[in-house]
Amino acid sequence: MAAQSREERRAKVIEVLNTAREMELHAIYQYMNQHYGLDDMDYGELAKNIKLVAIDEMRHAEMFAERIKELGGEPVAASSQKVQRGQEVGTIFTHDSKLEDDTIDTYNQFLQVCRDNGDSITAKLFEQIIDEEQEHLNYFDDVGDHIKELGSTYLARIAGTPASTGGYTRGFTAEGGGE
Ligand SMILES: [Fe+2]
Ligand SMILES: [Fe+2]
Repeated sequence: MAAQSREERRAKVIEVLNTAREMELHAIYQYMNQHYGLDDMDYGELAKNIKLVAIDEMRHAEMFAERIKELGGEPVAASSQKVQRGQEVGTIFTHDSKLEDDTIDTYNQFLQVCRDNGDSITAKLFEQIIDEEQEHLNYFDDVGDHIKELGSTYLARIAGTPASTGGYTRGFTAEGGGE
């Protein structure tokens, strides 16, 4: 088998970067929708943290786009799937844990694709973003567990807490992971 050309290897990396970007765009729309929903239900603290996570995902989508451009590709603008609307508070966090878990799994496969095609820079980018998805997963798991174990007692503590993230925010992981 003839060795693949540099262009072919680059095209494979651009392809996984674009799939990852579609997944980030979906996460942004999904988390924004949950942010409004939780705000409506008056669970301010949860609304605020999901908004911050959505901002992280936007940063990821941009990082992927920048790398795609560096490699000479064209970033996609469509998201990977439809937003689930009107979720109950109990469903949101198990749903999001699964989304993050699937993302980590997929990005680990993509990281390997980058290595197999000799692109250590993009591999490092995936590594860095996987670390942040892990922080999201830990947070969603924690909240999901609290809701499962404490139910209304936990939610009563959250009800009426402020939803504001202030005028300027760098997102969830940069703000200390919901602390
Ligand atoms: Fe992300
Ligand atoms: Fe995430």
